Amino acid sequence: MIIGRKVILKEEVPSTNDAAKLLALEGEDEGTVIAARRQTAGKGRLGRHWSSPEGGVYLSIILKPGITAGEMLRLTVMSGIPVADAISEFTLMDARLKWPNDVIVSGKKVAGLLMEASSKGSAINFLVLGIGINLNTDVKELEGENPGSLSEMAGHKFDHEAFLHLLLFKLDDFYKSYLKGMISTDDYLKRSSVIGRHVTGSVGDQRISGTAMYLDDMGALIIKGDDGLTYRLDSVYSLRYD
Ligand code: BTN
Repeated sequence: MIIGRKVILKEEVPSTNDAAKLLALEGEDEGTVIAARRQTAGKGRLGRHWSSPEGGVYLSIILKPGITAGEMLRLTVMSGIPVADAISEFTLMDARLKWPNDVIVSGKKVAGLLMEASSKGSAINFLVLGIGINLNTDVKELEGENPGSLSEMAGHKFDHEAFLHLLLFKLDDFYKSYLKGMISTDDYLKRSSVIGRHVTGSVGDQRISGTAMYLDDMGALIIKGDDGLTYRLDSVYSLRYD
């Protein structure tokens, strides 16, 4: 076991990602997980806020995969696989992946992933993979685009501890396979809700609209633009379905 060898549980922290970064800087081992019942300053992608009321799952994992900065997007994107699998298996609802890092159930965002790196040049010292899941959350307490709560969709609450256990098991299994080169783009595409859809990718004022075609080897999304050109969207883009 790598992920979950050590799990630190907190009632409340500003952000489990920040707490994990501090631990890693103090020399904490790979695989250590820090989880909290609430966050007071949860962070989303692209500097956004991540609402973190009681009932959700908030955790961060220290990873030292020995990859370069250029390989980070692929690991981030692929890490959605065990999250979607754990949600599908536990809730019996069909969880799909929306590139680059969202998990969607019935068109609503139920989980997000945020990977942060401590690097020197292109070498990475460690990564922190943060995962937020709206498990037993009151959707009225959530901000952001089209959020969904798994318990509200199911009509009942879920066992938080049992879910955490399954999630860590799936993450560990996935990570060991990833390190052995056993996770393929097809594993991702099987769970994707994006491929074949008309989408718009945006960064700042730039907009690219077209059909999502496939993921390249680095985890970037390839789009056939409405203008006939091919575009490659990397980690700085956000994506919406049209
Ligand atoms: C996103 O969809 O924008 C990513 C959201 C990631 C949220 C998680 S919750 C646990 C960890 N700690 C944080 O501050 N953020 C991540």
